[in-house]
Amino acid sequence: MCGIVGYIGGEQAAPVLLHGLKRLEYRGYDSAGVAVYNGKAVQVVKSKGRLAVLEGILREEELPGTVGIGHTRWATHGAPSDVNSHPQVSDGGLFAVVHNGIIENYLDIKNHLKRRGVEFVSDTDTEVVAQMLEHYYQGDVLEAIRQVILRVEGSYALGIICASCPEKVYAVRKDSPLIVGLGEGENFIASDVTAILSRTRRVCRLKDGEIAVLEQGRVSFFGPDLEPLEKPAEQVEWDVAAAEKGGYEHFMMKEICEQPEALGKTISPRLREGRVVLDDISLTREEIENFSRVYIVACGTSYHVGAVAKYAFEKLLRLPIEVDVASEFRYRDPVLDERSLVIIISQSGETADTLAALREAKRQGARTLAIVNVVGSTIAAEADDVLYTWAGPEIAVASTKAYSTQLAVIYLIALYMAQETGRLPGEELAGYLKALEALPAQAERCLREKETIQYFASQYFNAHDMYFIGRNVDYAASLEASLKLKEISYIHSEAYTAGELKHGPISLIEEGTLVIAICTCGRLFDKMMSNIREVKARGAVVLGITTEELREKLAQETDCQFCVPATADFMLPSMSILPLQLFAYYAAGMKGCDIDKPRNLAKSVTVE
Ligand code: AGP
Repeated sequence: MCGIVGYIGGEQAAPVLLHGLKRLEYRGYDSAGVAVYNGKAVQVVKSKGRLAVLEGILREEELPGTVGIGHTRWATHGAPSDVNSHPQVSDGGLFAVVHNGIIENYLDIKNHLKRRGVEFVSDTDTEVVAQMLEHYYQGDVLEAIRQVILRVEGSYALGIICASCPEKVYAVRKDSPLIVGLGEGENFIASDVTAILSRTRRVCRLKDGEIAVLEQGRVSFFGPDLEPLEKPAEQVEWDVAAAEKGGYEHFMMKEICEQPEALGKTISPRLREGRVVLDDISLTREEIENFSRVYIVACGTSYHVGAVAKYAFEKLLRLPIEVDVASEFRYRDPVLDERSLVIIISQSGETADTLAALREAKRQGARTLAIVNVVGSTIAAEADDVLYTWAGPEIAVASTKAYSTQLAVIYLIALYMAQETGRLPGEELAGYLKALEALPAQAERCLREKETIQYFASQYFNAHDMYFIGRNVDYAASLEASLKLKEISYIHSEAYTAGELKHGPISLIEEGTLVIAICTCGRLFDKMMSNIREVKARGAVVLGITTEELREKLAQETDCQFCVPATADFMLPSMSILPLQLFAYYAAGMKGCDIDKPRNLAKSVTVE
């Protein structure tokens, strides 16, 4: 969602804030703004539109001062406009606030303050916070913050500056991410580390209800009742270059190409002497044997990893598996107990619905295991166990390397559980581990065929609709392929289980409709061939994704084919998704879409 930054130090704040906002623009990009204390008052410059618009204004307009906050917005309350952009300022100009999250009871508070004569100018929920701060301020900013957090409901990461305490930046959070960066003679706040990586690697992560007060030479932390806290700093290992485009035109292409390396980093440290070694988790053999059901809960692309996981877990563990989108799981009153294992998947580790699902699982006594990419994120901190995907920062809104590495961790968990409970004969386990180990090199090989996919995309990027079909794990991969295409190219697409077509969706097929058929599962190949014949008979053009050994047979029924390396059945989506990520990328590029920042989307969805 929105990105926030704050700076206090010896340099001019505006350029530092802009630099940080550039790294956070993936979180939201419909408007941006900064507020800096200029020695006399808090001065705000903000504008509707991309960060580049703000940057242009700041080239013309002086914004002197060494203390400030900045924001890049993904609108929730009020359309993108100059006045709804953050920072939001209180009536008397005393407080400026940047916010990520949603204040759910903002209307009640707004009406209450209006009755007391406070004038509001925006439609945002955030303005309520700025107005409340001034309303409750009686010479002590911390006390005013305490009064505000006592009254607001919802989620927030807030950066605050106050004209009457101009040598400080204040920060507080609940259910929205916020970190404090500790520099030399300068300190920062940010929604995530990429915003401050070029300045410092020492960070403290605020927990719910904690408040930070940043001064140039020190940072103090307080609990919700203003009790002082000691917070240890941690060192961030991410490479600065990892958050840069490094010569690629888009982060998405860079991240697609990073998948072989990311897979290697995620898999190889966890395979030792012919065994899966998961040192990072504490599950015992007895606990694994005691599980009666596994739940996999996530959103978007991470949910699609769950769709693959269902097949892997059922095959390897013969355990009942339920896969759910987090926004449904959290409100459907799932039946859980201490014999339930709930696997939570999230790249960011901050997705609001996924976090709420994790909390619901814990509340009901289930054992929770998170698969997360962002180290130290809220989901990672709250789950009983966490397995990190070592994908490095994923900046493009469309997830690619997170998907691949999450899949790899799912295979590792399923194989580990099978290994620990002795469910797999040694030879079979060895075969799977060999297949897992081979994935990075196979992905590398597959990604060498970019031009072929680029050519396919050039033939179909003008299509209005496309359909992806598959069976078993090929259907799970179709879900992700379809999401990728629609989110960045805006081409309408649907994914269907191939066997379901004849129950309705086949009515959508007409002369020239493109159907992408994923047919990598040898076991179900003949069934797929029948379904392909059915759509061809109704005029569809079919692109088949398959493995080398099945190509010849597939060529008899399809208009064109693309081959991916063969692997263990349940790992096939790790291969079949690669050409389809490329297909979405090229189609979006040919349509002139903004690939890294697709319309209406944001990278980290920290609101419901
Ligand atoms: C993927 O391309 C999307 N941007 C989106 O579906 C994403 O996977 C989803 O919002 C979940 O995010 P998370 O993995 O950070 O929880």
